[in-house]
Amino acid sequence: MLEFENYVPVDVVFGLKKLETIGKYAKKYGTKALIVTTGPFFKESGLVDRIAGYLKKEGVDSEYFCDVSPNPHSNETYAGANFAVKTGCNIVIGLGGGSAIDAAKCIAVTVAQGGDIWPYWMGQKEIYAALPIIAVTTTSGTGSHISQYSVITNPETNEKPGAGSPLLYAKVAIVDPELMISLPKKMTAATGFDVLAHAIEAYTSKSATPFSEMYCERSIKIVGKYIRRTVQNGGDVEARVMMALADTLSGFSIAIAVITMCHAMSHAVGGVCNTVHGETLAAMTPSTIRHSMSFSPEKYKNIGAWLKGYDKAPADWKLEQTVEAVEELIKDIGMDIPLSQQGVKRSDFDEIIKGTIGYMGGGCDLDPAAPISADVVRKVLEESF
Ligand SMILES: [Fe+2]
Repeated sequence: MLEFENYVPVDVVFGLKKLETIGKYAKKYGTKALIVTTGPFFKESGLVDRIAGYLKKEGVDSEYFCDVSPNPHSNETYAGANFAVKTGCNIVIGLGGGSAIDAAKCIAVTVAQGGDIWPYWMGQKEIYAALPIIAVTTTSGTGSHISQYSVITNPETNEKPGAGSPLLYAKVAIVDPELMISLPKKMTAATGFDVLAHAIEAYTSKSATPFSEMYCERSIKIVGKYIRRTVQNGGDVEARVMMALADTLSGFSIAIAVITMCHAMSHAVGGVCNTVHGETLAAMTPSTIRHSMSFSPEKYKNIGAWLKGYDKAPADWKLEQTVEAVEELIKDIGMDIPLSQQGVKRSDFDEIIKGTIGYMGGGCDLDPAAPISADVVRKVLEESF
């Protein structure tokens, strides 16, 4: 019989110019915010100062921390937490893509709990405290503004786990598509593909529910229709708005149904080789679909048909057509970059396999083709190389 739980407690504030309202939300949760970004770009562009102004208007002070890498490192989040404590911040705002938002979440936990957070990120202990988090997403996207996950890399161990906890939900997610208009073409394509990968994996996950399936269907249809437009013309506001919606829907879907083999592998690849998340997913998604599609054929047929604009898969739709639809999309957005061109070496495979079925094993277990063996992971790596 049908049974499920559906808990995604995020106040989503969606629309052009919604960033201007951030102070109104922030003041509900604290008096001083740490704004976290990856690098100084948003300070130099004036966005950080604009946000500081919106906060100040509502009586909220702010500080700014930008020493965070794309694929944020645990030593960086410790430094950010020390800075937050020193400056008396009691809210953390993640401004950027998934890296900035995930770093903000990790800083929020590190400040509230103190001590070593790594056992909590490795899933060995339950996160028990976090400062309130506000997510301002500037990409479409990573889903992190909606989900209860935070992915952090430990540079000493090359592990890149995603911690999951209800305390890692943002209190408020501000999705202002105006912030995405200046996102460069390559980042638009990579983060746009991540949106699709979230929807594909959550839709086929063993934890899928009627809610998550609904989010995935709408997200996949939107990506099929709009992703090429955002890549071809970043200033296409309608397409940017729709991809921001797809990212948000996909975020809800992974909050409920998590991810499967491809994301599990992508984290392990990223941990070892510091690759771009969306590019790595694009390299491996066709092969992972080929491996898993016969275990849930109706769902995989729908994915391809939705990408091609059908409302549901026609009776004669073949599974291979779904792989072709995904491959065509990857090519059209310039994401057909094999792992070998992303800095991955065959000599990295053993460590990647170990991480995939080790600390990312929970994701593999949700794949329709689970259990996922080391041989399967190696085969996908070879096919994506
Ligand atoms: Fe992702």
